[in-house]
Amino acid sequence: MKSKNTIIVTGGAGYIGSHTIIELLETTGFNVVSIDNFSNSSAKTFERIEKITGRKITNYEVDLCSKNNVEKIFEIEKNIAGVIHFAAYKSVGESVLNPYKYYHNNISSLLNVLECCLKSNIPNFIFSSSCSVYGNISQLPVKEDTPFGKAESPYAYTKQAGEEIIKDYTTAFNQLQAIALRYFNPVGAHISGLIGESPINKANNLVPIITNTAIGKIEQMTVFGNDYPTRDGTCIRDYIHVTDIAAAHIKAMMYLINSQNKSNYSIFNLGTGTGVSVLEAISAFEKISGQKLKYTIGSKRPGDVIAIYSDTAKSENELGWKPKFTLEEMMETAWKWELEQINPIPTS
Ligand code: WQD
Repeated sequence: MKSKNTIIVTGGAGYIGSHTIIELLETTGFNVVSIDNFSNSSAKTFERIEKITGRKITNYEVDLCSKNNVEKIFEIEKNIAGVIHFAAYKSVGESVLNPYKYYHNNISSLLNVLECCLKSNIPNFIFSSSCSVYGNISQLPVKEDTPFGKAESPYAYTKQAGEEIIKDYTTAFNQLQAIALRYFNPVGAHISGLIGESPINKANNLVPIITNTAIGKIEQMTVFGNDYPTRDGTCIRDYIHVTDIAAAHIKAMMYLINSQNKSNYSIFNLGTGTGVSVLEAISAFEKISGQKLKYTIGSKRPGDVIAIYSDTAKSENELGWKPKFTLEEMMETAWKWELEQINPIPTS
């Protein structure tokens, strides 16, 4: 029998998926197969991954909510060592306005992929979770054993539910082991400037909005609230470079493959451990870009938590993972990617 040397990445053309594919190809011997229906991404991303890595990616353009179609992929693809499940909707604000979209997509796709893992006897599963599972929390930094807080948005609730579902699967089926990685706020772009956050849909996360404003796509940005109980009144987040997040997935997959895990289901925070306010993020961007950003103070955004940042001890000690990029480098690479949109580097 051939050794299991393929990793299935769902959402491979997405923001974190695409950066993780690059890390997988550049730092491991695995083949990568992606499943992405481009609902919030572009097929062009694969051309760019090819340009960076010199490797062609097989992608199945399939909606993960369609169980039959997903099953077909898992029947075709053999020798799968593990699945990294990124594909999901991720906008906090949109989920408050359109809960069905989030509950339907994020939960049914997860169930379909888990069922396929069981059917195909795939032992290793990694899930994109989020620090939003902690809710509004006063005890900072947050540790992995902090209980879930009240979900502040349907998006956050899909991540809490997703983790519970995976935990139940790993309890019921001993052949499956899993890790939930709780991302704090992934930002920045690949150092090549060739890939970054998708330009397909309207930006709604802070850093793309900052760079969109600086380039003039957005006339003026809004800071959502400045009377929070924080040092400057704006919300605090733990911004982390997307390439650091990508590298953590390789560590997590190897942790499972090398049986370093103490139980069938583990959780790790992926953050830097440093809280940064919205105004501090704006100021870091202004410093590296030399641009003065046009912004106004607006009302609070529904679903926002006040402040959150990560306790990094567990991911450092057990996964052996430590983020490398600084806030300035996060802003620099995000800005390079924004500039690349107006003056693209040819891919062939
Ligand atoms: C950051 C801060 C806004 C836009 C993200 C992801 C989510 C999850 C958790 C996982 C907030 C403020 C934003 C703007 C602003 N992580 N802001 N003006 O809500 O923390 O959620 O992290 O993977 O998937 O979406 O991130 O970037 O939207 O907001 O003032 O125009 O910036 O209020 O305080 P958020 P964000």
